[in-house]
Amino acid sequence: MTNYPFAIHYEATSRTFHLQNDNLSYIMMVDDYGKLLQLYFGKPIQHRENFSHLFNFTTHAMSASILEYDSSYSYENVKQEFPDFGATDLRSAAVKIRQENGATVTDFRYQSHRIFAGKEKLAGLPASYVKNPEEAWTLEIQLLDALTNVTATLSYTLFAPTFGGIIARSVKLSNNGNENLQVERLLSLSLDLPDKNYEWVQLAGAWAREREIEERPLAHGSQAIYSLRGHSSPHHNPFAALKRPTADETQGEVIATTFVYSGNFLLQAEVNSIDMTRLQLGIHPEGFSWQLLPGTSFQAPEALLVYTDKGLNQMSATFHKLLQKRVARGQWRDQARPILLNNWEATYFDFTEEKLLAIAQTAKEVGVELFVLDDGWFGQRTSDRAGLGDWTPNQDRLPNGIAGLSQKIADTGLKFGLWFEPEMVNKDSQLYRQHPDWIIHTPHRQQSQYRNQYVLNFAREEVVDNIYQQMAQILREAKIDYVKWDMNRSISEAFDSSRPASQQGEIYHRYILGVYALYERLTSEFPQILFESCASGGGRFDAGMLYYAPQAWTSDNSDAICRLKIQYGTSLVYPVSAMGAHVSITPNHQVGRMTPLSTRAAVALFGTFGYELDLNQLTSEEIAQVKEQIAFMKEHRDLLQFGRFYRLRSPFATVAGGFGDGNDTAWMVVAPDQRKAIVGFFQILNKVDEPFNWVKLAGLAPDKHYTLTTGPTGETITYTGDELMAIGIDTRKDSTTTFGAPETRSDFSSRLWVLEAE
Ligand code: GLA
Repeated sequence: MTNYPFAIHYEATSRTFHLQNDNLSYIMMVDDYGKLLQLYFGKPIQHRENFSHLFNFTTHAMSASILEYDSSYSYENVKQEFPDFGATDLRSAAVKIRQENGATVTDFRYQSHRIFAGKEKLAGLPASYVKNPEEAWTLEIQLLDALTNVTATLSYTLFAPTFGGIIARSVKLSNNGNENLQVERLLSLSLDLPDKNYEWVQLAGAWAREREIEERPLAHGSQAIYSLRGHSSPHHNPFAALKRPTADETQGEVIATTFVYSGNFLLQAEVNSIDMTRLQLGIHPEGFSWQLLPGTSFQAPEALLVYTDKGLNQMSATFHKLLQKRVARGQWRDQARPILLNNWEATYFDFTEEKLLAIAQTAKEVGVELFVLDDGWFGQRTSDRAGLGDWTPNQDRLPNGIAGLSQKIADTGLKFGLWFEPEMVNKDSQLYRQHPDWIIHTPHRQQSQYRNQYVLNFAREEVVDNIYQQMAQILREAKIDYVKWDMNRSISEAFDSSRPASQQGEIYHRYILGVYALYERLTSEFPQILFESCASGGGRFDAGMLYYAPQAWTSDNSDAICRLKIQYGTSLVYPVSAMGAHVSITPNHQVGRMTPLSTRAAVALFGTFGYELDLNQLTSEEIAQVKEQIAFMKEHRDLLQFGRFYRLRSPFATVAGGFGDGNDTAWMVVAPDQRKAIVGFFQILNKVDEPFNWVKLAGLAPDKHYTLTTGPTGETITYTGDELMAIGIDTRKDSTTTFGAPETRSDFSSRLWVLEAE
């Protein structure tokens, strides 16, 4: 294999840029008129001084030409980097700016560029980062719209080959002119591809069934996913992949993108009449405009762009590594996460200090490390009708306050965690009574609620500051090691009563900037606290959140069988270390299903593991199993949370009957030195007279000898890595663990196989 340099080349004679490493090439060229064109994105190719022969152009009828007396040159069918609105490219634009006279046409042309080692911060926004300048090269290209004197700075960071084929992109507009402008559209990524021979892969869902994988071929026109809810949403995760129809988990070309942003977004692929594809991702233009006064700038968030020719597992590995190592930050980034017990499904609002301490005591005995007190500890919060906004302990329920309770929990030997929902308020609260104008609402319109709660206007600094003061006080006075930051409703009737008409289009973005600002303050002041984000489960599961909170509650659905799809789909983009996963009671509270305790644990072990049930309700046999599960997790959690994750068999039906009918799920993690791997195999319905069913593994060293020890009988088998990858494991083999896997198989069974090489 050729070793390509890890470099960003610029050729002055041909005005060509080439981002190149072992995983990809990304080539752009400035044309004779100063427009920045996209020439190629894909497999790495050798560098040359000139790539203008790759320029693709044909003249078409009814296209508007930029040349006088020559109808041949239009941008309608040219691959561009930063398409303007309203000029000759009549497809979906990356930018649209309204001048004082109402005009919206722009014409951004190349002005200058700079290339530097490393990567700079994006002010006020989450973004990928580098530890040292050797980890990345950045290219900034400055384009100018001469009429308005606005510059657009396009930023491209190419990460070192060890990060896989990944580029971080963002764009900033600066108004150097003297008009009051309105930015009406500014997409962070616009990528033109020469054909449409792709399948669009997305993660669709809803509350409690987040991130289900859907695929369909691209077609003419636009295919889009989006959020206009004020958060990234469980309905559409800000991710899409374009995969070649023949690509699968292990091979084939995939181009994918995700957004390091948690607010409204638009992600679309537009296919034009000559089958060119334009992939775009950015803040959703609907409901958005930004007043760009002279001398000011607007920074759009960052999009991550992946290319691989090695299939979906490689795409995921690339996202996982960057999100885990260079988006997530802080002390907890690389640390095995504490095994927690959360009281929500154990008690809901019905708890006393005594009851909590009794659960915590048993939790300590079985090996749990962190006790998390969920909703209901503050203000008048005895149901979801009151209390949000008042972050002071409810003395009736917790006579010793949070400081006293956290001390008692610490005395049992556990760490202590606490739930907040900082962005919300109930009308029945002190905060609302004092500041009724702090909720987001449009004057003289309906004020809609969900769960009796209203959204605080985090676009206002004094609101964020008030919540900060309240939270910081509790975090200072009590012994708190973990915070669960929840967010349980979407924004409706958006309006910012603190700003004039010309700035109403800013509210959604300013809101999320306020959320980020609060996270930034709290995570810098309390760096030892582990933050877990949550939005009714997975309603804000995005790379933006991971910058502040390295893990997120994946879904409010804790049923092990539903979780197979949820965690499998989530793994397309997000690493295991980011996925909160808990064992809960049966019948399951969301779907009523009875599943074996062993399967509930086997699924949750591929996550930041914990329990969400009252341990004191379990039988002594179950408690014994729980102890084994926790011991297993403690022994293997570095591998489970930080090993390389591979999807092996999909819970989403891909074929009818047999393997791939969705009845089986399999995935695995492999240690960096390939000496150890753990495979999870899950079967929904049991079958009689089952055909042979071997599951092929991935990511092992072909020459290594791996030993599998099966639990109940202690039988050991040695396989070579190449056997395991070419032939697989017979799925009738017993689990390595003995924590309660039923002797005879039944529905909802699971197997965990630990493989170890010398
Ligand atoms: C949301 C969260 C749950 C729990 C409840 C508390 O639904 O996703 O985990 O914290 O709120 O009200």
